[in-house]
Amino acid sequence: MERLNLALLGGGTVGSAFYALVQERREELAALGFAPRFLGVLVRHPKKPRAIPEELLRVEPFDLLEADVVVEALGGVEAPLKLLLPALEAGVPLITANKALLAEAWDALRPFAEEGLIYHEASVMAGTPALSFLETLRGSEVLELHGILNGTTLYILQEMEKGRTYAEALAEAQRLGYAEADPTLDVEGIDAAHKLTLLARLLVDPAFPFGAVEARGIARLTPGLLQEAAAQGKRVRLLASLYGEGGRWRARVAPSLLPLDHPLAQARGNALWVKTRPLGEVFVTGPGAGGGATASGLFADLLRLLSGAPGHLPAFFAKPPLAEGSPFPEVLTR
Ligand code: NAP
Ligand code: HSE
Repeated sequence: MERLNLALLGGGTVGSAFYALVQERREELAALGFAPRFLGVLVRHPKKPRAIPEELLRVEPFDLLEADVVVEALGGVEAPLKLLLPALEAGVPLITANKALLAEAWDALRPFAEEGLIYHEASVMAGTPALSFLETLRGSEVLELHGILNGTTLYILQEMEKGRTYAEALAEAQRLGYAEADPTLDVEGIDAAHKLTLLARLLVDPAFPFGAVEARGIARLTPGLLQEAAAQGKRVRLLASLYGEGGRWRARVAPSLLPLDHPLAQARGNALWVKTRPLGEVFVTGPGAGGGATASGLFADLLRLLSGAPGHLPAFFAKPPLAEGSPFPEVLTR
């Protein structure tokens, strides 16, 4: 049996769920020949109640170079980057759920992603396949992509459709562990913009800049607007879209009106709809936030790593769009 040394950064909603999942799947890891051992779990407040043994908690950064893999679920950009760079430089692979880090610190991280050292299925749509789904679509040309990539805003819109207020629905999304530590990232569309950036880099341009995504959120939407949309046979969703315009890729996050019969309007969870050639239209949907759902994505990456497969490689070169325009021009402007 080979010892598998895991360094876990973060023991909050996602980190705690990942710790629990590794315990639950220990036998399966043993069947693959690995005995997992946590070297430590980095947190800020060691006295906070959490389902991780207290002796594993660390409040000071510990030596990540002893790890066979670092699993990062801290959040933020500067703090994780400072901790992770030395480990990546030493060749230690990284599994992360942190889309803000990848979107905003790409100049520093891109060389390691291109080496296959960064696994980040959980960073987009949690454990619902988004990156591996798109990896398979590399067999076709992507014409356009539209997704519901943020679980918090989806939950808020679904609850507002049932008559709850925006404030009540946001508070519940926070209680359920869907929201970011700073929920303005969710409601202002920034989290979805982070995720759309990662998808664009995987599919169409390895250098796609986060700053090129136009983002607008849902904070100004009212139940009245959702009812008006319903009366017109439409549903409002915060849509992340990547499509060709003027010979360039346009990336936009905005509240959009979807016809009720479209799979994206009918999806109960986060979702991705992609139009490709020659494959055609493809769709995937499932939970996109929450501890267990995200731990599932991190664990899938652990299995991918243990199988010897590289992390999620960016697109090999920049491709111009082959088609123009989006089928969802109806962006809510109010
Ligand atoms: P969280 O509940 O706030 O947990 C963050 C954890 O990191 C906490 O244990 C916190 O310590 C620790 N931490 C944060 N900054 C630290 C620092 N500078 N030094 C030491 N410890 C620090 O957040 P989360 O929901 O688990 O999210 C973690 C990451 O996963 C984020 O990047 C998020 O975007 C991503 N993600 C979340 C979800 C989701 O549904 N929640 C889904 C997909 C991806 P304390 O516990 O002591 O405060
Ligand atoms: N805050 C994020 C969301 C977590 O609501 O989608 C999952 O990435």
